[in-house]
Amino acid sequence: MKVLMKVNNLCKNNILKDVSFSVDEGEMIAIMGPSGSGKSTLLYNVSGMDQADSGEVWLGDTEIVQLSEDDKARLRLTGMGFVFQQMNMLSNLNILDNILLPSVHADKSRAFHAKQKEKALQLMEQFGIRYLADRRITEVSGGQLQRACICRSMMLSPRILFADEPTGALNQTASEEVLRAFLRINAAGTTILMVTHDSRVAAKCQRILYILDGEIRGELTLGAYSEAEITNRQQKTADWLKMMGW
Ligand SMILES: Nc1ncnc2c1ncn2[C@@H]1O[C@H](COP(=O)(O)OP(=O)(O)O)[C@@H](O)[C@H]1O
Ligand SMILES: [Mg+2]
Repeated sequence: MKVLMKVNNLCKNNILKDVSFSVDEGEMIAIMGPSGSGKSTLLYNVSGMDQADSGEVWLGDTEIVQLSEDDKARLRLTGMGFVFQQMNMLSNLNILDNILLPSVHADKSRAFHAKQKEKALQLMEQFGIRYLADRRITEVSGGQLQRACICRSMMLSPRILFADEPTGALNQTASEEVLRAFLRINAAGTTILMVTHDSRVAAKCQRILYILDGEIRGELTLGAYSEAEITNRQQKTADWLKMMGW
């Protein structure tokens, strides 16, 4: 397996204490741990949204901690995707235009816009929300909106997708739809690092990292997902989380 992201001895304000791990190309990893353990801080620091105190974060051949703010912003726009619990969509734009926003920032040419609009509609079709293109964000459900956020995050074909409790505010049915969207994206080759409180979500990931007090305390490797062994994976995950003190 080829390593896509390598994190070495990352420290931040005593919130992250010497965190090291690596992410293989094509993996989907769950990050779990109690509230306040540093999961969101970890995502902010490995994506360069926050400035780490020390340590290294490699994405391919690029070391992120040392980059200038401009270079980090550019890398986030073109190489990373983000899906958060709070969805950060603009209420004065319709769903399609929200999905197109990062593309507009990346390249303002008319030709690119036309191409991206086509891509947005294809992604929306894939995730069952194409018919909502013209709606305002207040006119769709939470699950539909989160799937729109997933479309937005995929518009510039990120090398890695970060998600922070993407199903945290959703009901069971909506969570399952959103999880299916992530699994589909991952099956198509996108690497995903996802913070979740839901052990059923984690059980579908290849690997789970458990964080406590800003340190990685445990790691469970489940391997490639297959629906056939879901009961077994859920049991294994539940047993392991219990052992970790979850
Ligand atoms: N900007 C900040 N300044 C100071 N402390 C912070 C900041 N953001 C988060 N924290 C603290 O860092 C710890 C980890 O927070 P966070 O990463 O949000 O945890 P989690 O996502 O696991 O719930 C918490 O104790 C929180 O209060
Ligand atoms: Mg958090």
